[in-house]
Amino acid sequence: MQGALVGFGTIAGGHLDAYLNTEVMDIKAVFDPLAERRKKAKLIAPRINTYSTLDDMFSREKLDFIDICSPPNTHHNYIRSGLSNNCHVMCEKPFLLFSEQYKGLLALTKSENKVVFPSHNYKFSPILRLIREIVHSEHFGQIISGHFRTFRSGHAVGVPEWNPHWRRDLNISGGGILRDHGTHSIYIACEMCRQIPTAVSCIMGNLKADQYKDTEDTVLMTLYFDHNIHFIINLSWAAGYRNTYYSIMGSNENIIVENDNLIYTKKEGEIIRKSISSEFDDPSHKSWFKGIFCDFKDVVEHQNRQLPLLKEALITTLVIECAYLSAKQGGKLINVPSMFEQLT
Ligand SMILES: NC(=O)c1ccc[n+]([C@@H]2O[C@H](COP(=O)([O-])OP(=O)(O)OC[C@H]3O[C@@H](n4cnc5c(N)ncnc54)[C@H](O)[C@@H]3O)[C@@H](O)[C@H]2O)c1
Repeated sequence: MQGALVGFGTIAGGHLDAYLNTEVMDIKAVFDPLAERRKKAKLIAPRINTYSTLDDMFSREKLDFIDICSPPNTHHNYIRSGLSNNCHVMCEKPFLLFSEQYKGLLALTKSENKVVFPSHNYKFSPILRLIREIVHSEHFGQIISGHFRTFRSGHAVGVPEWNPHWRRDLNISGGGILRDHGTHSIYIACEMCRQIPTAVSCIMGNLKADQYKDTEDTVLMTLYFDHNIHFIINLSWAAGYRNTYYSIMGSNENIIVENDNLIYTKKEGEIIRKSISSEFDDPSHKSWFKGIFCDFKDVVEHQNRQLPLLKEALITTLVIECAYLSAKQGGKLINVPSMFEQLT
């Protein structure tokens, strides 16, 4: 399959590097409104054609897919535009900002005979795959609770040529750290539980003394699932250090990954402690892409996989909406509505 990158910033650089090092798919074009960014793409891969508008690219290139790596507020238009121009669509997180934007999307994929693929890359990290394998094994027992923590000393900064602090502009990002890292935590929690949350409570605010007051830098959120399972999610851009932590407690076993350390307490009481290479500290997560591209190709070939993927994206968006609502009401428990009819 031959495709194009839409937006050529930080994460697109990671995507391109991965395309150049795999034979699963290839990139033949790049669209970015900024000349400096198009020049950067050409420097890395001179054979690539670059475009300053999406329409120009669609009119001149014959593409099988587009890979959307532009800022969150552009995703909705570009997803629909890609489908309408005969392309499969992969799109970076946050896939869509508002649940109402999912309306009719499944129908559009069907009428165009194309797929959309949310690039939920943490599912493809080797360490989260290992945690999932352990948690879903029969020895682990029933999941009781989870605790995920993502602490950073500041928000990630985008390419200098555009708008490096777009993550703190509500109109572009659609929110602060909840929209950014929270997205990953929510779909991972759902995947571990193999359930969707029934309710959410959340408090949030700004702990850092900086000028970015429209978007939260710190979040404490609890996701409630059936069978009394709950997951606590702590996110902060105001921490003095970087820490990535996943802990899941089962009725028989327990697994904790903190940065590059793993502690797995087995049913018989044996404790396995290991140093691992979590790769959480590479912000572009280059090494995870081969698995993502293979899965995207698999969805193209097995379009019955479309609905679950769209549900995963929609539930992530819905939980974020409910969490913002909860925070506005001082952490009130908000039931997550069932809105899968949105998709059709
Ligand atoms: N999955 C992950 O782990 C991960 C990591 C980083 C970023 N992301 C996501 O990738 C997307 C881009 O983030 P980034 O960090 O690369 O940002 P960035 O600021 O580094 O790059 C953004 C790029 O988009 C271009 N751009 C701006 N407006 C555009 C428009 N209207 N149409 C097309 N291109 C436009 C800019 O010129 C720039 O090249 C965001 O949705 C972000 O959440 C995901």
